[in-house]
Amino acid sequence: MSVKYLLMLCLLAFSVEADNNIKLFNAKEYGAIANDNTDNTWGDACQWNGSATVLIPEGTYILKSVGFKRPCNGSKTFHIKGILQAPIDPSLLTDQTWIDFRYIDQLRVNGGGTLNGQGTSTRQKCLNNPNCQVLFTTMNFGFITNGHVENFHSIDSKGGHFIVFGCENMTFTNLTLKSPVDNRNTDGIKISHTNGINISNVNIGTGDDCVAMISGTKRVQISNVFCGPGHGISVGSLGNNDAETNVEDIVVKSCNFSGTSNGLRIKTWAAPLNITLNVSNLIYQDISMNEVQNPIVIDQKYCPEHNCDHQENSHVQINNVTYKNIQGSSATDIAVNFNCSRIKPCQDIIVDNIRLWPYGGKGKQLTNYCFKVSGASYGTQIPTSCI
Ligand SMILES: *[C@@H]1O[C@H](CO)[C@@H](O)[C@H](O)[C@H]1NC(C)=O
Ligand SMILES: *[C@@H]1O[C@H](CO)[C@@H](O)[C@H](O)[C@H]1NC(C)=O
Ligand SMILES: *[C@@H]1O[C@H](CO)[C@@H](O)[C@H](O)[C@H]1NC(C)=O
Ligand SMILES: *[C@@H]1O[C@H](CO)[C@@H](O)[C@H](O)[C@H]1NC(C)=O
Ligand SMILES: *[C@@H]1O[C@H](CO)[C@@H](O)[C@H](O)[C@H]1NC(C)=O
Ligand SMILES: *[C@@H]1O[C@H](CO)[C@@H](O)[C@H](O)[C@H]1NC(C)=O
Ligand SMILES: *[C@@H]1O[C@H](CO)[C@@H](O)[C@H](O)[C@H]1NC(C)=O
Ligand SMILES: *[C@@H]1O[C@H](CO)[C@@H](O)[C@H](O)[C@H]1NC(C)=O
Ligand SMILES: *[C@@H]1O[C@H](CO)[C@@H](O)[C@H](O)[C@H]1NC(C)=O
Ligand SMILES: *[C@@H]1O[C@H](CO)[C@@H](O)[C@H](O)[C@H]1NC(C)=O
Repeated sequence: MSVKYLLMLCLLAFSVEADNNIKLFNAKEYGAIANDNTDNTWGDACQWNGSATVLIPEGTYILKSVGFKRPCNGSKTFHIKGILQAPIDPSLLTDQTWIDFRYIDQLRVNGGGTLNGQGTSTRQKCLNNPNCQVLFTTMNFGFITNGHVENFHSIDSKGGHFIVFGCENMTFTNLTLKSPVDNRNTDGIKISHTNGINISNVNIGTGDDCVAMISGTKRVQISNVFCGPGHGISVGSLGNNDAETNVEDIVVKSCNFSGTSNGLRIKTWAAPLNITLNVSNLIYQDISMNEVQNPIVIDQKYCPEHNCDHQENSHVQINNVTYKNIQGSSATDIAVNFNCSRIKPCQDIIVDNIRLWPYGGKGKQLTNYCFKVSGASYGTQIPTSCI
């Protein structure tokens, strides 16, 4: 199959005027890779005083790093019908990002097509070359307001699939995000400093967190997410520097985890801080687990490289977290693990109707672990609650 190279420069092959204020900009293929990453097609769509759509038609295109980074007038849509491939050679990419959207109100990204990050080939190419950079985010959303990201696939990302930073009112729905489990640091959706985000009907399988909510993530609704393989739906890591802000008002509902290393995880470093950082008002409800290593875990001594000071305590205060109707199988002997901070014990942790059993195993007995946690338990508790 011939692969066409898509030039974002002068992409205005033809445009169709639909009605008064809606304009379609058709990004057609060109014969070479652009020498820079300016964005005239988007520029024209952005200038257009009204709704405008940039269309990536059917076909396969290689696209270098592109940035759409200024405010526009009216809602703008990036409609991906075809397959966009990132270059394998990382020298054709910049700023740790493949496709970068910033400062846009009413952005829509959709179209049924596919973003192929070609991460596996890049990792192969970079093998044994420490100067070769692998970790590029497939799509970055910075300071986007009222955005809708829906109906397409992102596969084989080099780094994370989506980063959401400084946004307000975003919806992510009907997406599949897939990377090989062995490709490390391929988060599905990583969110920070964002207020108002809904994620629903998303199928995520990666080599890192399916969803990660870090500093300043507020008002999140996650539902009908399938996660696996991957490292689960995580709050954190948090508590490693004073610039971080609170994480609050998170609902995770009707989600499934299968073959993941974690299910519902909150992770904080045991590091000194000059502030009290709060993680509060979280609800996890109607969750199904299958062969999950740590189905429910609060780890306030998070230290993935195992090189931390054992005397330190986490300064992150976790409070008001409810786990309700959680069931399924655990791949380790600990079902619920609340390992909280000695100096900021977890408060108001509610467990309500939890049923977790050993994966595939008869005879094995699961237990729960609690350290410095207070709250209450209701309903069925299998294994016995330690709160
Ligand atoms: C938006 O439209 C206004 C006038 O309606 C114009 O002054 C402004 O330059 C436009 N902004 C952009 C980003 O095109
Ligand atoms: C843009 O459209 C709005 C309303 O649709 C109108 O008020 C404004 O004058 C237009 N601006 C330009 C530069 O055409
Ligand atoms: C979900 O997205 C796919 C394309 O990725 C599309 O074919 C399908 O119609 C969408 N479903 C809904 C309910 O929008
Ligand atoms: C986000 O949504 C809220 C509630 O619907 C609304 O009050 C707020 O103005 C929206 N923010 C932006 C930047 O549009
Ligand atoms: C998220 O969904 C809830 C309920 O479905 C809705 O009330 C809220 O406005 C939505 N928020 C965003 C940012 O779309
Ligand atoms: C989760 O698993 C349950 C039972 O295994 C199933 O009924 C449900 O459809 C699954 N949901 C998703 C989002 O995969
Ligand atoms: C806390 O503040 C003190 C004094 O300003 C400073 O020396 C120390 O490095 C700060 N600690 C952290 C973790 O930032
Ligand atoms: C965290 O919560 C505590 C207790 O409610 C409060 O005193 C403190 O100001 C909060 N910290 C931040 C950064 O909001
Ligand atoms: C605890 O969190 C829930 C859900 O976010 C919220 O409705 C409730 O008001 C919170 N309780 C307190 C005491 O803040
Ligand atoms: C709890 O944290 C301590 C300190 O890092 C660690 O030694 C212990 O193994 C943890 N316990 C569980 C059950 O995870």
